[in-house]
Amino acid sequence: MDLDSRAKAILTANDRGGYTVPNGRVYPFQWNWDSAFVALGFDAFDRERAWTEVETLFKAQWDDGFLPHIVFWKDDPGYFPGPSVWATGHDPVTSGITQPPVAATVVRKLWESAHAAGQGDAFRARLEALFPKLLAWHRWFRDVRDPDKRGVVVAMHPWETGRDNSPEWDAPGEPIDVSNVGDYVRRDTSHLDAKMRPTKLEYDRYLALVQWGRARGWDHAEIARTNPFQVADVGMSMILLRANRDLLWLAEELGRDADAAEIDAIIATAEAGIDWLWDEDRHCWCSRDRLTGKHSGFVTSASFLSFYAGLHDPAKDAGMLTHFERIGARVPCLMPSLDPDDPGFQMIRYWRGPVWAVVNYMIGTGLTECGYDAQGERVRRNTAELMEKNGFYEAYSPIDGTGSGGDDFSWTAAIWLAWAR
Ligand code: DGY
Repeated sequence: MDLDSRAKAILTANDRGGYTVPNGRVYPFQWNWDSAFVALGFDAFDRERAWTEVETLFKAQWDDGFLPHIVFWKDDPGYFPGPSVWATGHDPVTSGITQPPVAATVVRKLWESAHAAGQGDAFRARLEALFPKLLAWHRWFRDVRDPDKRGVVVAMHPWETGRDNSPEWDAPGEPIDVSNVGDYVRRDTSHLDAKMRPTKLEYDRYLALVQWGRARGWDHAEIARTNPFQVADVGMSMILLRANRDLLWLAEELGRDADAAEIDAIIATAEAGIDWLWDEDRHCWCSRDRLTGKHSGFVTSASFLSFYAGLHDPAKDAGMLTHFERIGARVPCLMPSLDPDDPGFQMIRYWRGPVWAVVNYMIGTGLTECGYDAQGERVRRNTAELMEKNGFYEAYSPIDGTGSGGDDFSWTAAIWLAWAR
């Protein structure tokens, strides 16, 4: 079967009726940013289904605009921690943390593609229905997750960043008390080699933070005031800035002038404040601990999302391009999730080395939009080569392309259809 057909077959097989699981064994529910990227894949062959994916996700939005990272439409014993551990009391049952806000950018893409196909009229009402939900989520980030008004996103859990075990969370995670976590049975390591997954200490911290939120009734304002883990994530911050630019474009498209002015102000705050994430010593965009003020100092794939965020600063761009060339000379396949010159680099361990297609899509798109065509094209080509050589894995070794994590992975297949091929 050719790759296009295989990618489509994966999305179709992982479709559970209105939403798509990332991988049936390892991740058997609807995940937030997975679904948004999956919609881009469906859009290549089934426009109607693409919109439904995003609409289903937003059916799980809470009244205050919060959009959860997992929606447990049906329980499944193959995953831990399941709905009873989260105990958010929400209907549908969801987790209590969020994930990188890529949805507005995806909805703009879906809209442009419908428009280009002459189907703007058919999808306009659906865009109008989604717009206020996207705006409500972005307002939630502004009001609840940016306490110092720097225009960044302060993550309360490593899972929120989507880059679960990045070393950026190691030092900020130290104050998390894991002494009362209790016994639990992980499911991820029964599906996958433990060498590809987070460690026991990392999992203990993940669970301690879930227990912290649950003990506070998932009151996000209180969690933001008291949480022992508070990191301004460079990935979520860049993604939200980009998403706000796309939401502004949609507001103008829909003639929503007051909303456009409000979004403009959110963008202005970010453009004025996001430099807080620039680490002058490393000459790199880095995540930063809000509680200690310390830069992580780690060059990760998320560092390269500044281009995607539409930031234009010649000195900082030059710094990032120097890192790009250095890393590009060290590994055949860009972009490793952690700098291969870092002593903690591990080529198949989740977010400590492997290449992820969705991050590559955002990095490559951003570089090309900023006029760095050769670099953007290298990232796209490397992404395609990984899939051509090894199929559609969750992630890949940047050294030899070995697949890492789950196979037949939905968002990887989607990125093939939407961009890499
Ligand atoms: C997991 O279970 O590994 C997920 O990444 C949490 O979102």
